[in-house]
Amino acid sequence: MSAVELFALTQHSYDGLDLLSTAVLLVDSGGRVAHVNQSAELLFDTSRKTLVGQLACRVLGDDAEMRQLVGDAQANAFGQRKQIMELRRLGRDPLPVRVIAAVQFVDNIPLVLEITEIEQQLKVDREERQIGLTEANRELLRNLAHEIKNPLGGVRGAAQLLEAELASSEQREYTRVIIAEADRLHALVDRLLMPHRSPRVVSDVNIHEVCERVRLIMVSEFPRGLAITRDYDASAPEFRGDKEQLIQALLNVVRNAAQALDGRIAAGDAEIVLRTRVARQVTIARARHRLALDLHVVDNGPGIADHLKDRIFFPLVSGRDGGNGLGLTLAQTFIQQHDGMIEADSRPGRTNFRILIPLA
Ligand SMILES: Nc1ncnc2c1ncn2[C@@H]1O[C@H](COP(=O)(O)OP(=O)(O)OP(=O)(O)O)[C@@H](O)[C@H]1O
Ligand SMILES: [Mg+2]
Repeated sequence: MSAVELFALTQHSYDGLDLLSTAVLLVDSGGRVAHVNQSAELLFDTSRKTLVGQLACRVLGDDAEMRQLVGDAQANAFGQRKQIMELRRLGRDPLPVRVIAAVQFVDNIPLVLEITEIEQQLKVDREERQIGLTEANRELLRNLAHEIKNPLGGVRGAAQLLEAELASSEQREYTRVIIAEADRLHALVDRLLMPHRSPRVVSDVNIHEVCERVRLIMVSEFPRGLAITRDYDASAPEFRGDKEQLIQALLNVVRNAAQALDGRIAAGDAEIVLRTRVARQVTIARARHRLALDLHVVDNGPGIADHLKDRIFFPLVSGRDGGNGLGLTLAQTFIQQHDGMIEADSRPGRTNFRILIPLA
């Protein structure tokens, strides 16, 4: 919904505008700021009280383009106009933004400006594309897995019957290969179907219990050469969630990090940092949240291979010998079931997986 629509819908009450992740400025007929929403306060890093009453073009950096836009709106020269421009804020680098200016006539407020950071816009577009793709992928795989599973039972059963008929043990070698491969495929298909099977068990979750469980499992898997550093924010509140799912999700991410650290574990200077924080005012898949849990898994390994970077969350994408490419798909599914998101930022020497889960 656009700011103008929301504004009309809320019957001139401005509160609804605070729900938007885009910054909104309402400009009065004198060209002065009449109201700003919370996102605008964040963008300008200035309180509503300070912004209201100032000349709009002054707030936006007194740029000629901006003055023209406000002037045109006052002269009623357009209904709606989109424009890319640079926001000049005092003491800050210019910020490329997309401005949608809409002229309307309510409450002596002729002009509504919606301002989105272009970087943020690109990120939201990317996230949405990713979510769409992931869903399509999951659907495809689920169907495929079912199709494979049914005949697979038949193949295995027939091989067993055949095995009983065969006289020589040499020939039975072949049926054993068939049975073993059918079992392997069966296990893979089960992992593909797993997130859609297990019922969710929701309770109060303490994120540090989740982290500690994962840490202990990893310490027992990698007893030497791997340091797991804890950097916990003790103020992180409990939240409603599925603890086992979250343990599985985090374990998959941390295990990947440990596997990527193979070389450094041998050298003895491998490190994984588990960091928890509470983040304020975060946007996840276009929804604004006042508070979110911000969990980071940082490793000092070689980084995610460039050719895999855009695809690591897709099923069956793996850069590891013997990897199924399902660990991150599963982690993403579980985090999304908590209305959260997971993203990776990686360069050689520092890979950071970030998990955000809304708290309020
Ligand atoms: N911390 C990391 N550092 C470097 N590469 C990573 C890291 N985490 C993931 N990757 C890359 O992403 C790929 C996909 O990971 P994912 O967990 O989905 O599958 P996998 O580990 O290959 O197999 P599975 O988890 O199913 O056993 C990995 O194979 C690896 O190439
Ligand atoms: Mg993995």
